[in-house]
Amino acid sequence: MDKTDKPCCSFCGAEKSPTVPLIAGNDGRICEACVKLAHQVVSSWGQRRKNQQMAPQLRTPAEYKRHLDESVIGQEAAKETLAVAVYNHYLRLLNCDREPVCQLGEQVELEKSNILMAGPSGTGKTLLVRTLARILGVPFAMADATTLTQAGYVGDDVDSIITRLLDAAGGDVQLAQWGIVYIDEVDKLAKRSGGGTAVRDISGEGVQQALLKMVEGTEVRISKSGRRNEHSEEQVVDTRNILFIAGGAFPGLEALVSSRIQPKNTGIGFHAQPRREAPSINELMASLLPDDLHEFGLIPEFIGRFPIITFLQELDHATLLRILTEPRNALVKQYKQLFAYQGIELVITDAALSYIADQALARKTGARGLRAVLEAALQQTMFNMPSQPQLRGCTLDLVEREDGGRSLEVLTRMAEDGSERIQSGSSPVVEEKSVLSADF
Ligand SMILES: Nc1ncnc2c1ncn2[C@@H]1O[C@H](COP(=O)(O)OP(=O)(O)O)[C@@H](O)[C@H]1O
Ligand SMILES: [Mg+2]
Repeated sequence: MDKTDKPCCSFCGAEKSPTVPLIAGNDGRICEACVKLAHQVVSSWGQRRKNQQMAPQLRTPAEYKRHLDESVIGQEAAKETLAVAVYNHYLRLLNCDREPVCQLGEQVELEKSNILMAGPSGTGKTLLVRTLARILGVPFAMADATTLTQAGYVGDDVDSIITRLLDAAGGDVQLAQWGIVYIDEVDKLAKRSGGGTAVRDISGEGVQQALLKMVEGTEVRISKSGRRNEHSEEQVVDTRNILFIAGGAFPGLEALVSSRIQPKNTGIGFHAQPRREAPSINELMASLLPDDLHEFGLIPEFIGRFPIITFLQELDHATLLRILTEPRNALVKQYKQLFAYQGIELVITDAALSYIADQALARKTGARGLRAVLEAALQQTMFNMPSQPQLRGCTLDLVEREDGGRSLEVLTRMAEDGSERIQSGSSPVVEEKSVLSADF
């Protein structure tokens, strides 16, 4: 047979052989390698179309920050860092298939900048990321490091994070590959060396190792049914381009920083240096280095994968005061709303607010303490209120007690004409409800 008569691939010209089977069409043939190549090309069209769909959602870092400002008070540095990181992540995404714009002569691959957020408990780490998730245009998943286990152990293994991300992307693998993942409480994965109470056993390090692979870039296989099962169809998610943000309180980290920058004064007696004022936790955290995180118990490879480290400040009295009233979902707004639902006006005086902030400071749980203090102060009133139909208003004030101390007290105001208000739970609202349900 003449050589030219041998069937060959119409695209690359490869000749048919037992190792190179061909698919025949009406007028031509195609080999496996060309099918694969064509598939890649078609997939990249899909990615480009998706990029175009996403482009209008791109906002400037200033806009991201403005959104964060609505919910998160203070923490300017962390907000800016996150805003820039998300913006850059988007830029990489939108330009991934563009020709290089710079004059370096070759394609410069932009590396993603994963972020590690450290900061005391209750200072807004989780809040920041939750708020960000609301305004992002890319899929977003959040995981708690404390629930993660090494593969093979009981619990969620790290792959479950990607399953969640894929869910957030509506099952679209390409979209999920550009997503953002937040891993909370990574400090709990630390391996505590020497004495002390172990926060987590050695398996914490195993989870760090497993996360490391994922952060670096790996292919995670997820079966469509959600379970690992040889027969079910698999989706493969490449984690190379996923942006990872890790957060944790890292208790005691400031002591490690402190001992590094201010070695213990060993002088005794006349040689002892006069004690300088101890730097605040905010000052200490500003000089945080990756080495301190290593000392804390994170493995160097893990730290190395999070090139941007940002820290959240401890909240002071003035910030706590603002947190009470300013954010979109400020606690004071929430309680006022709760009272308003029952037809009662709630007023909280400035003195009371300041006292609440003081009390929260003393609890050392950041802004978390605010809710506990406010809840305790209003507890009794909230218990009695629904059974006091003449109640019209409550004022939470700081009052002097007979023993000279001060405490929060609720002063109540009843209806002057003794009329009863319409409140939820009482009969008039049943009528209201029926009117409402007509609307739905
Ligand atoms: N900077 C802040 N601005 C507004 N609210 C805050 C701030 N920090 C904490 N909060 C409030 O305190 C609570 C706990 O914050 P969270 O973000 O969960 O703290 P953590 O840093 O421990 O993750 C949240 O409900 C949040 O509303
Ligand atoms: Mg948190």
